[in-house]
Amino acid sequence: MNIKTVATTPFLDQKPGTSGVRKLVSVFKQPHYLENFIQSIFDSIEDYQGQTMILGGDGRYYNRQAIQTILKMAAANGVGRVKVGRGGILSTPATSCVIRKYNAFGGIILSASHNPGGPDGDFGVKYNTSNGGPAPEKVTAAIFERSKVIDKYKILEAPDVDLDTLGEFKLGDMVVEVIDSVQDYEQLMESIFDFDKIREMLTSGKFRMCIDSMHAVTGPYAHALFEQRLGAPAGTVKNGTPLEDFGGGHPDPNLVYAHDLVEILFGENPPDFGAASDGDGDRNMILGRKFFVTPSDSLAVLAANATLVPGYKDGIAGVARSMPTSQAVDRVAASLGIDCYETPTGWKFFGNLLDAGKITLCGEESFGTGSNHIREKDGLWAVLFWLNILAVKQQPVEQLMREHWHSFGRNYYSRHDYEAIDSDRANQLIAKLREQIPTLKGKKFGDREVEYSDDFSYTDPVDGSVSKNQGIRIGFTDGSRIVYRLSGTGTQGATLRIYLESYEPDPSKHDLDPQQSLADLIAIADEVAQVRALTGMEKPTVIT
Ligand code: G6P
Ligand code: ZN
Repeated sequence: MNIKTVATTPFLDQKPGTSGVRKLVSVFKQPHYLENFIQSIFDSIEDYQGQTMILGGDGRYYNRQAIQTILKMAAANGVGRVKVGRGGILSTPATSCVIRKYNAFGGIILSASHNPGGPDGDFGVKYNTSNGGPAPEKVTAAIFERSKVIDKYKILEAPDVDLDTLGEFKLGDMVVEVIDSVQDYEQLMESIFDFDKIREMLTSGKFRMCIDSMHAVTGPYAHALFEQRLGAPAGTVKNGTPLEDFGGGHPDPNLVYAHDLVEILFGENPPDFGAASDGDGDRNMILGRKFFVTPSDSLAVLAANATLVPGYKDGIAGVARSMPTSQAVDRVAASLGIDCYETPTGWKFFGNLLDAGKITLCGEESFGTGSNHIREKDGLWAVLFWLNILAVKQQPVEQLMREHWHSFGRNYYSRHDYEAIDSDRANQLIAKLREQIPTLKGKKFGDREVEYSDDFSYTDPVDGSVSKNQGIRIGFTDGSRIVYRLSGTGTQGATLRIYLESYEPDPSKHDLDPQQSLADLIAIADEVAQVRALTGMEKPTVIT
């Protein structure tokens, strides 16, 4: 076995963001860049010698090449076995599932999630720990510290391996096992949901659905689940072949980027149900006939109806949402008498709550929903959850949502993004907002009076760790909120996100366009932060 130790010098920009390190492909392709980061992972973790690791990615450009490098580095660093998805394909939720099922010490996921791919697009590396979830901050911080001083890495000198044939072979002393990308995940889904009931609905001839995989990783999973296993007709899954550049699209399931699906569900004679997922398969968007379900409402609906699904028939222990996610689920939790936790943005903050059994379901406004079945958010799980509920209730999506609002009130919600703004300007805007925090309480804007204002800080109830500066909140006495934060997932300039929410208990007022019903809050948000003046942008680039 020929293990090479290669001298290197650190790159100083390998700080993991909300979800791993994401950079342009051109950055990752610099000599030693990927290797430095991977070696920093191995140097920062313990007890992996001879143990099992999971490896896969969303199929984007550079996926295959990076997998070859990582396999050779894993072999050189003493990993016992790597289970790698066939063709290098493993969705983020499937990776989490496989880590847990086979007691792996961790996994490496190659993805920049919903960011565009291709030679000019983004690439990313995430490290997940043995619980199947994103590495907690203390681990990512250690990896970053190591990356700043790293001076060598280890790699096996060996020819590239065949990633396309299932089976086991040796790479140095390590076993490489090429696994079916879908099988373990499909089995897990079958253990949670009532497949018979869903199949009955999908083959009844009375229910039509459409899934948009956006040329990204969920294609093979969606084909296997919905068309082969659950009986939906061929063609139900659109854009179902993963492409290295996602067909030139932006694989983010929202009303702007999932336009193919939106055109179908809002067009002539639309199907009953539509859903899309992102690059690595952890996000989801749910649509009914000419009807959009906000991710925050989706979480609330899943929580309210969880006992209809076999996997949650005994009830849920608690729920959690990220701070900027609407408070719709809080109302469901209150009525169920269970705890509702408010965490910072980033799925990793749910991990401890799930591990400790404090919560069963969790979700984020950024089109993420999930449960204790794995430790990542899970796009197709959310789709199956909705289908299971619809199959039991025999109701259209819109009616289900309206009845939910009728019972719990409606949280009008919208997010306004200002993308690719100059980083200095964005930081200045946030700094100015921070200065205003102590002065806002009691201030009146039209009918709304500020009840509190702060920069969100979270103390993890399980390990006591504190995460500060997680977004500026302005809460009003009527329950409405404005939240500002800078995205932690972008790669160019900064993205300002403004989250707007108001609560409407009166069913006769549940029919408004959210932009209309939130219009005064939108104006207040601009007035307080001087968004237009400081960004030089007249309107948001994306509204969801
Ligand atoms: C990723 C994370 C999510 C997070 C989202 C938005 O998808 O997994 O947990 O909510 O990014 O992050 P951003 O920092 O861009 O708002
Ligand atoms: Zn994703």
